[in-house]
Amino acid sequence: MGCCDLHFRRGGAADDESRWGVEVPPGIDPTKAHPSRRYNYWLGGKDNFAVDRESAETVASAFPTVRLSARENRAFLKRVVTFLAGEAGVHQFLDIGTGLPSAGNVHEVAQAIEPTSRIVYVDNDPVVLVHARALLTSDPAGRTAYIEADLRDPEKILADTDLASTLDLSRPVALMLVATMHFVTDEHDPYGIVRRLLSALPSGSHLVMTHATNDHLTPEQYAENVEANERSGVPFRLRSTEEFTRFFDGLDLLPPGITSVVDWRPEIPAEERPSVEDVSMLCAVARVP
Ligand SMILES: C[S@@+](CC[C@H](N)C(=O)[O-])C[C@H]1O[C@@H](n2cnc3c(N)ncnc32)[C@H](O)[C@@H]1O
Repeated sequence: MGCCDLHFRRGGAADDESRWGVEVPPGIDPTKAHPSRRYNYWLGGKDNFAVDRESAETVASAFPTVRLSARENRAFLKRVVTFLAGEAGVHQFLDIGTGLPSAGNVHEVAQAIEPTSRIVYVDNDPVVLVHARALLTSDPAGRTAYIEADLRDPEKILADTDLASTLDLSRPVALMLVATMHFVTDEHDPYGIVRRLLSALPSGSHLVMTHATNDHLTPEQYAENVEANERSGVPFRLRSTEEFTRFFDGLDLLPPGITSVVDWRPEIPAEERPSVEDVSMLCAVARVP
């Protein structure tokens, strides 16, 4: 069964009944919007509830190109894993904020290049756990694991026995925080979380991050976006290039440095790429010295 063959239903909204075929498993609240299902909706998937779609449309009312931004972020994910597994020679990945399985999951891209690649996926959405079998289809030469945990509790992630049995922490690991850190608001110490996770990884490891930015918004647009994000029911923190850059303090940024996801090692000519403003998603890859 593929990830997207499994559907839930809770006798509520008729719309959800047509999308989800069985009872909602325990621990899943279909009345609360969640980032993974909202992202799935923007990418054109069907693994989402009415509340996720409403939340997604609320965000889109203030930032109409959000679907484009989601697609460009996902395209970056494939390019960066291709780069890491190939040119950079990194064959271990800690992918936190994995999202619902979709085309080009990290292990599929990495193991197509290096079958022995090892990947630990982490997400805090119980719906991702339900679909996790699609993340555990490792090449026999490599290995994958899924941990249900919250990024805001890095100690729990680092202490997980599946992490220890899947990754060799004496060898370089790519810490992937792709479209995830903007869900960590300031009171949860986002910079401290990234520092703590990196402190467990050896020299030669890499930090990969993408992050939604307010760089291109007027003050009025910014206020509108903040208000829409609050109304959408999902805590969200846009960050400027300056704020994003702080995540990479003490690391060696790889070319092209801090840039828009559309401009990071692009595969298509500049004139065919979407505008940096419409996508408004920063990215960077850096090496742990
Ligand atoms: C926008 S999706 C990105 C998915 C994937 N990384 C990608 O770029 O295609 C963000 C993911 O981060 C997860 N997430 C958000 N906050 C989290 C947290 N505090 N702990 C763990 N995962 C979190 C969400 O559940 C969601 O699956």
